[in-house]
Amino acid sequence: MEEILSQVKAYSEEITSFTATDADSLEQFRIRFLGVKGIVKAMMGEMKNVPVDQKKEFGQTMNGFKQLAEEKFTTEKERIDLMGGGSSEQIDFTLPGTPMPTGSRHPVTLMRNRIVEIFQRLSFTVAEGPEIEDDWHNFTALNLDENHPARDMQDTFYLSTDPAILLRTHTSNVQIREMEKQQLPIRIICPGRVYRNETISARSHCFFHQVEGLYIDENVSFADLKQTLYFFVREMFGEDVKVRFRPSYFPFTEPSAEMDISCQLCKGDGCAVCKRTGWLEILGCGMVHPNVLKNCGIDPEKYTGFAFGMGVERPALLKYGITDIRLFSENDVRFLEQFSGV
Ligand code: PHE
Repeated sequence: MEEILSQVKAYSEEITSFTATDADSLEQFRIRFLGVKGIVKAMMGEMKNVPVDQKKEFGQTMNGFKQLAEEKFTTEKERIDLMGGGSSEQIDFTLPGTPMPTGSRHPVTLMRNRIVEIFQRLSFTVAEGPEIEDDWHNFTALNLDENHPARDMQDTFYLSTDPAILLRTHTSNVQIREMEKQQLPIRIICPGRVYRNETISARSHCFFHQVEGLYIDENVSFADLKQTLYFFVREMFGEDVKVRFRPSYFPFTEPSAEMDISCQLCKGDGCAVCKRTGWLEILGCGMVHPNVLKNCGIDPEKYTGFAFGMGVERPALLKYGITDIRLFSENDVRFLEQFSGV
């Protein structure tokens, strides 16, 4: 008995000090101690030679011995697995890792966020709605009934199985949806993707992005509209930007206007981008037409409001000096990754 215990002690020391260098040496360890013909089995087999009154103590010692060998095997196996199955080559865990490419924001997203953020400072909140829309929310409720000629300017894509369903041509559909909730006042900004049946070229695409805005309350006037938009362009393009409003026509606003800013490239002198005029058109706007308010169940005698809408791609082209709108949707990371720091 003494002799066996001292052997067990020696083996225990061997186990404790064992470190596997690779999967092979670990396997040898396993066979030597835990195998069918291994030391742990052999030592346990000595039980039959132990006097009856010592069997219990011997059994406990042997269980501890077995556990020691098993635990050593498990921890060494984990370590060797971590080393990649373990050639004898050691891995230095303190070395810096392989960097993961992190991506960057899309230039259209960057521009949209800049626009939205400026209006948020004026307490506008973001509202969103569906890109696949019905005729009512995209056209009819906006005072563009079925045969209205202005529909031609916003020709879009229809479902052949149900022509009443279309891809929205502007985010004004979100304005209608918000007005229909009739929780006044409304002060929202509607960013999103829109579609038009247009020939794809360097300057136009069949889909693009817009940010539209809507403010409805009692006593909202054209002066509020001008001041809001003036604040916006100064925040966006700088203190020295000039603006001008030109009378225009939209079926859903009356009066309507288009707003130009002084060309940021030539500072108003005239260049190729502003077609020698010194001005760039950036948005359409106007006072919400009473028919639109009525269509949404809002009393036009009590409430008035203004609306505006602008594209996102055009100002992004200007800001980042990009010459072809198609680059935005070609998904070439070499192009896309250039703008996050700009
Ligand atoms: N919905 C118009 C367009 O897409 C823009 C606009 C919005 C004009 C609101 C006036 C008022 O062209």
